Amino acid sequence: TTIYIPKDSGALALGAEKVATAIEREIASRGLDAKIVRTGSRGMFWLEPMVEVATASGRVAYGPVKAKDVASLFDAGLLSGGSHALSLGDPEKIPFLARQTRLTFARCGIIDPLSLADYEAHGGLAGLRKALAMTPADIVGTVTESGLRGRGGAGFPTGIKWKTVLDQVEDRKYIVCNADEGDSATFADRMIMEGDPFVLIEGMAIAGIATGATKGFVYIRSEYPHAVAAMRAAIDVARQAGMLGPAILGSPNAFDMEVRVGAGAYVCGEETSLLNSLEGKRGVVRAKPPLPAIQGLFGKPTVINNVISLASVPIILDRGAEHYKDFGRGRSRGTIPIQIAGNTRHGGLFETAFGLSLGEIVYDIGGGTATGRPVKAVQVGGPLGAYFPPSLFDTPFDYEAFAAKDGLIGHAGITVFDDNADMLKQARFAMEFCAIESCGKCTPCRIGSTRGVETIDKIAAGVQPEKNLALVTDLCNTMKFGSLCALGGFTPYPVMSAINHFPQDFAPKPMQEA
Ligand code: NAI
Ligand code: SF4
Repeated sequence: TTIYIPKDSGALALGAEKVATAIEREIASRGLDAKIVRTGSRGMFWLEPMVEVATASGRVAYGPVKAKDVASLFDAGLLSGGSHALSLGDPEKIPFLARQTRLTFARCGIIDPLSLADYEAHGGLAGLRKALAMTPADIVGTVTESGLRGRGGAGFPTGIKWKTVLDQVEDRKYIVCNADEGDSATFADRMIMEGDPFVLIEGMAIAGIATGATKGFVYIRSEYPHAVAAMRAAIDVARQAGMLGPAILGSPNAFDMEVRVGAGAYVCGEETSLLNSLEGKRGVVRAKPPLPAIQGLFGKPTVINNVISLASVPIILDRGAEHYKDFGRGRSRGTIPIQIAGNTRHGGLFETAFGLSLGEIVYDIGGGTATGRPVKAVQVGGPLGAYFPPSLFDTPFDYEAFAAKDGLIGHAGITVFDDNADMLKQARFAMEFCAIESCGKCTPCRIGSTRGVETIDKIAAGVQPEKNLALVTDLCNTMKFGSLCALGGFTPYPVMSAINHFPQDFAPKPMQEA
């Protein structure tokens, strides 16, 4: 019998290692014939550590399991899926999972992340094999046709980015994967790297074949040590199996890759400062143009894509552009892994076609707040995303619909706040975050953010609130239109949305008036 225990960071933080040790001990002391396979996470964090057992009638799940529950689980007949207070039944039938469309995350939480055989048995490598039989232009055409857009946040069409690189004539080109997942409430990149690293390797190899790049780098934030270890181990396995190297799967195509670790700067998630950091320089933003697609890493044409963009490519090649494009709405095609966090009952990863309303995500899927209090706001798209009040919860989850409401979906992380949240404090936090993380290259961001904190403090203290509110609005305009990159340019989203949707939090407090 096989017992599956996650080793995803989220599950580890909730005690998965202790659970695994306890299960191992129980197997040994009872003399049972069972083996443990460590997996990624299915992405239902309120049920982690979630343990699954392969039974004759399929997998049976238990969770959230603590080490102290393990003996009683065995007493209840864990190995045959016996009933216990922690029984969850067939994991695929848990409503949170059953309602999803898992294309990119199809294997995450199910397979042994470092078993290439397991990967292949669950549909892995099929996209790469198809790509090896196609011309680069046809691969790029398929990705363009699928409608895939950059999942890092900007939503730029992936196929068009690849075409720009394909069209460059140069001796060397690069594929860079941006795994500097710095947004609050986001963990999709991490979950893929820890739970299904081969899908990212496969996507990067396909990008290499499509654009003529033979070398790839995965730039992972230093806060993700488990993802770094998983990616490094998976790259070694892939290389030994001939999935990477001078002759990918025996073909004439060469592609190899390595992991580089960041040093804790949020701005290194911005593609040009990421390139500087990769080159061993200070992580300062570069002016665009030139686009990285034309002059990127070491001055050579470079594809920079987010983890999820690249990890979505294998299934597009495997199933075809039409299959992927069939999901979604408007210009937002395919699926998006929504990450629900903050004050929510059901925090986790929910992969679905674009188009659910924000309200469905917050209430039906997330189950409302963990505190049970009314939802006051949700911030969508990380620390630079706008705060949405419940009156905008009918907004469908797609790039254009969010932009039309002065927001962004960004990397699709949503943070839920209850009615105790103070939106003035949140606006101040945005300015402060920008001041701390600013790379310092341009004035609106470097100086504007510090002035922003001071001005919001004045409003909080009741000092000329009307004049200072007008000043913050003016400052936000300057930052929005005058900043070189999204850090300074997008900080106005959380600030202005807080001011516009929650004016009562910026009004003078009765105490101060008196
Ligand atoms: P951008 O709109 O300047 O560029 C988007 C991408 O398209 C870039 O890779 C750019 O090089 C490329 N591009 C544009 N025109 C092209 C062409 N003709 N040919 C080839 N490539 C072309 O956006 P930017 O500044 O790269 O990203 C901003 C986004 O980053 C925001 O929307 C925000 O949501 C997101 N973000 C994500 C974070 C995360 O943790 N994932 C953190 C912070 C921000
Ligand atoms: Fe640097 Fe801020 Fe200017 Fe971006 S907006 S280039 S982070 S100073």
